[in-house]
Amino acid sequence: MDKNKLDSYINRPKRKEFLVYGKPEILQPEIDEMVETLKSGWIGTGPRVQRFQEAFKEYTGAEHVLAVNSCTAALHLALVALGIGPGDEVITSPMTFAATANVITHVGATPVFADIDRETLNIDPAEIERVITPRTKAIIPIHFAGRACDMDAINAIASAHNVAVIEDAAHAAGTIYHGKHAGTLGDIAAFSFYATKNVVTGDGGMVTTNDADLAEQIRVLSLHGLSKDAWKRYSSSGFQHYDVVFPGYKYNMTDMEAALGIHQLERLEENIARREEIWARYDEAFQDLPVDIPAPAEPDTRHARHLYTLLIDIDAVEITRDDVLNALQAENIGTGVHYRALHLQPFYQELLGHEPEDFPNTLHVSDRTISIPISTLLTDEDIEDVIAALYRILSSARPRLGISTVR
Ligand SMILES: Cc1ncc(COP(=O)(O)O)c(C=O)c1O
Repeated sequence: MDKNKLDSYINRPKRKEFLVYGKPEILQPEIDEMVETLKSGWIGTGPRVQRFQEAFKEYTGAEHVLAVNSCTAALHLALVALGIGPGDEVITSPMTFAATANVITHVGATPVFADIDRETLNIDPAEIERVITPRTKAIIPIHFAGRACDMDAINAIASAHNVAVIEDAAHAAGTIYHGKHAGTLGDIAAFSFYATKNVVTGDGGMVTTNDADLAEQIRVLSLHGLSKDAWKRYSSSGFQHYDVVFPGYKYNMTDMEAALGIHQLERLEENIARREEIWARYDEAFQDLPVDIPAPAEPDTRHARHLYTLLIDIDAVEITRDDVLNALQAENIGTGVHYRALHLQPFYQELLGHEPEDFPNTLHVSDRTISIPISTLLTDEDIEDVIAALYRILSSARPRLGISTVR
């Protein structure tokens, strides 16, 4: 690389304040809406949840939507509504957050892992084919970091084996695949509005589906199994009794969360545009470093740019991923790890008895991945701080024999 450029990064002063990873951008419209919600007295599930649902329906094009209190709840409801339980298997990727597999165990079914593609970090359809059995009832692909999975291939496998597809769309608000939004690409989808996501409500989630029967079951399951939800019971159209038709769950979203979600969703497109700018700057800056940058988005898809993950080339330099995390922390840069492989986590290791090498691509990523800040709150100066810190750390790492550190 150009020596002047390298020197400018090396000599850039260390940032003074800690850059919090994934800090959400909450603006005045959210604050005003929250205050109005509190003043209105309707702080449970009410008119703002309805508004948020309508807006999400319009945005994604899904026929049915239901706001819930987390993506975990949404995934759990999907499995229960599909009647998945003991003796059943559900295929997912081991490169995901714990919740994706945890919910499979919550319903008494067995998670079955299929390795990822090393470029896309998404579940590899060929690996799904390899592990599918007559006991498989569903596949849960994760649109990792906001990159659409190969849904044509996944849906083809699912229909050949008569199994359901549940999109884990936790990262995928704004992801588009062949002209259709995430949330409309399988049988049911689950979104997350956790504090670091592209749309935040504190905690929160959304179920989307085009199947009216599943939608109705999920609605009933999400609120104690009651035949009528609170919004209808207490509205001005007159008191209505409810019946308990199932021992359901307490998964409803409240108007306080929806108050944030309504305005967050309004800004999603402009936020993705800003994330794209940051992404492009990172891509350009890291060309010279011993890291693998994310692959370009696949043709006819839109990546939602939720997470910017780098793979540290630990074969080229004498440094571990954790060394880089610690060094970034010392540089006042917050980071994330998405993810350490799930098949190596104690619970899943004990349950399924996998060896690390059973999923070589997941293992490769698990040992190398770091996520650097990509929030819309970042200023251009913040971005340069992140880049400079990574240059300092990686250019001072000793190259392994015969490999130059800075490319
Ligand atoms: C891939 C994935 N699935 C599921 C979840 C669970 O989402 P929530 O925290 O909204 O329950 C997350 C949360 O980070 C996630 O990243």
